[in-house]
Amino acid sequence: MLKESWSLVEEHQDKVAGYFYARLFLSHPDLRELFPVHMDVQRTRLLGAIVTAVQTLEDPERFDDYLRALGRDHRKFHVVPEHYEVVGGALIESMRAFAGEQWGVEYDQAWADAYAVIAAKMLSGADADQNPPYWYGEVVQHERRSRDIAVFTVLPLQPLEFRAGQYLSLEATRYQPRLWRTYSPANAPRRDNTLEFHVRALGAGWVSSALVRKLQVGDMIKLAAPMGSMTLDRRSTRDAVFVAGGTGLAPIKSLLEELTRYNRTRWVHVFFGARTREDLYDLADLNRLAARYPWLSVVTACSDDPGFAGEQGNISDVVARYGPWNEHDFFVSGSGAMVKSTLRTLAELQVPSIRVKYDAFSD
Ligand SMILES: Cc1cc2nc3c(=O)[nH]c(=O)nc-3n(C[C@H](O)[C@H](O)[C@H](O)COP(=O)(O)OP(=O)(O)OC[C@H]3O[C@@H](n4cnc5c(N)ncnc54)[C@H](O)[C@@H]3O)c2cc1C
Ligand code: HEM
Repeated sequence: MLKESWSLVEEHQDKVAGYFYARLFLSHPDLRELFPVHMDVQRTRLLGAIVTAVQTLEDPERFDDYLRALGRDHRKFHVVPEHYEVVGGALIESMRAFAGEQWGVEYDQAWADAYAVIAAKMLSGADADQNPPYWYGEVVQHERRSRDIAVFTVLPLQPLEFRAGQYLSLEATRYQPRLWRTYSPANAPRRDNTLEFHVRALGAGWVSSALVRKLQVGDMIKLAAPMGSMTLDRRSTRDAVFVAGGTGLAPIKSLLEELTRYNRTRWVHVFFGARTREDLYDLADLNRLAARYPWLSVVTACSDDPGFAGEQGNISDVVARYGPWNEHDFFVSGSGAMVKSTLRTLAELQVPSIRVKYDAFSD
């Protein structure tokens, strides 16, 4: 029934979203402040997310962890329990308004029931969380490494626990309030709690360009709870291969740093690729690590820089030139396209998928 009723309005998705927000903000003007100033990128985000959640999470028990985490995470948007009913109501009313006469009361009930189950799971996740909704952090260092890439360090005002390889969302509070994006710390947890980030400014990207071009030492940003499971299994004795594209190097360096603290026995190969050598923004540090730890080797590649002395080509193809890799643990991180082609290569090389962990920097 959920799918059937959605199909009545699906082709007017944009208008449904417009109506949804208009209704929401007219009936509850205070809710406008929870959302970003510019809602062009965001416009269909919340509505789309709710519709997808309600429709695809047919078995909410299976998605228990995800929904609980989503609820916990919503606290950073200043969402409180009372908002859930308002949003659920606006959602159903917007669909009803656009479906016209074909809408039936049974659809109202189906959406209300499904939404209630999901909202309850999100709320219980939020309620059980002991962490603050977000942490403030001060930028203590900021360095432009290329035209589009910056490396900066943040000191959270309260300890923020995370595991090497995880990511967290942040808000560049001074420049793009209420826009949150995920970034991966490039270091393993440190005693002084600082977190280093590697960010590439994407053309029209709101948050990434602010982080690269505007952020300054002394700025305060907000950080939310860490997420993600691209972490090391300390019990594994297998050699490891890290494949990074561009700033996809960040979580890989975090994992490497953790390995430097205990590894004696595992060979570790890093494949670091970018379009041009300018984008291999952290090579000096990687080479320094490789010189210091005999178990570490680094292969670099450029896909669009014929004069580059390292490997030529996409990093996924370069990985395939080495090997054999059947007995290795793999960690892959970079743009969606890079991760996709690397996973395809690994499947062709018959690397069991259970040994491959990855983070794609896009949906
Ligand atoms: C798990 C995870 C970890 C991440 N870690 C990092 C990290 O450590 N470092 C890092 O730099 N990024 C990382 N990202 C990506 C980051 O979260 C943002 O998506 C990215 O910085 C763009 O955000 P934005 O606000 O600048 O762009 P948005 O404002 O979200 O996008 C604006 C426009 O930019 C364009 N755009 C968006 N993405 C791309 C793209 N990939 N290529 C070309 N054009 C694009 C689109 O046209 C879009 O409409 C990570 C993403 C995920 C999911
Ligand atoms: C079933 C209930 C809900 C679901 C499944 C849901 C899902 C989502 C998802 C997946 C995102 C994107 C998260 C991200 O990019 O990090 C999001 C963003 C957001 N949600 Fe919700 N949400 C729900 C309820 C609510 C409620 C009740 C509010 C209160 C107003 C709310 C406010 C927001 C805001 C402010 C954002 C960020 C702005 C944006 O990206 O547009 N959500 N939601």
